[in-house]
Amino acid sequence: MRNSKVFFVTCSICFILTIPAVHCDLSYSVPEEVKQNHVIGNFAKDLGLELRTISTRKARLDFDGTKQFCDINLTTGDLIASERIDREALCDNKASCVLKADLMMENPLELHRVSLNVQDVNDNSPTFKNNLMEIEIRESTEKGSRFSLEEAHDADFGQNGVQRYILQKNENFILSPDNDKVELLLENKLDREKQKNMNLTLTAYDGGSPQRSGTVVIHITVLDANDNAPVFSKGVYKASLLENAPLGTVVVKVSATDADEG
Ligand SMILES: *[C@@H]1O[C@H](CO)[C@@H](O)[C@H](O)[C@H]1NC(C)=O
Ligand SMILES: *[C@@H]1O[C@H](CO)[C@@H](O)[C@H](O)[C@H]1NC(C)=O
Repeated sequence: MRNSKVFFVTCSICFILTIPAVHCDLSYSVPEEVKQNHVIGNFAKDLGLELRTISTRKARLDFDGTKQFCDINLTTGDLIASERIDREALCDNKASCVLKADLMMENPLELHRVSLNVQDVNDNSPTFKNNLMEIEIRESTEKGSRFSLEEAHDADFGQNGVQRYILQKNENFILSPDNDKVELLLENKLDREKQKNMNLTLTAYDGGSPQRSGTVVIHITVLDANDNAPVFSKGVYKASLLENAPLGTVVVKVSATDADEG
């Protein structure tokens, strides 16, 4: 949050007092979500007006639209924040967010255009639509395969938006180094017989100060592939049998198992 009260006064024609309505632009910067009664600037000083005249000349401020984002103090000439200024609600994710108003005075009639440049503040965290992502991956999937992940969203603008992702350390996956997309990259092959499913936490960070973050759990189900052959319980089975054993006598029991499913 930059709390600079930078203003730009383009006031080159103010002194031509023969013109009844003098146009003169005033521009101020204000961080969003400032407290009520925050002083945004002093128009009296910026226009070179004598303080006692602004009350008698009935100075007033009218915003384009219905909301009156700031008032003027007729004693001091200050512009005072009077309404919540939420940049995301007013301007969505646009690079520039400017509120415009008319500053009017009587005797003689004088009109100024006032611009309020609303600066973004890191007041939103990155968020994922759901708090769980489910992915099914067959264990036979080759190394280097990619799986796209849902991106996080941050209502703030620029540096205050999502800047990077970090995946919980694990044996199989890393995040794809391709910066345009958020993807899991299979670095080591899966083995369902070792691990049937895993949960990996993905964290998204913004670039604001203080930094904000949001997380999602990626639940990976490893699907079976026929990667195991049946195995007998012994390499050699030995049995002995009487020569007069009746038909149907059990000679030996063998068994085989297969680590694969179904
Ligand atoms: C204007 O500012 C003065 C000095 O800060 C303060 O005493 C006064 O209450 C303010 N007036 C209004 C209407 O806010
Ligand atoms: C992953 O999370 C799910 C849901 O919370 C849980 O049922 C499952 O046991 C977890 N798996 C592992 C390997 O921790």
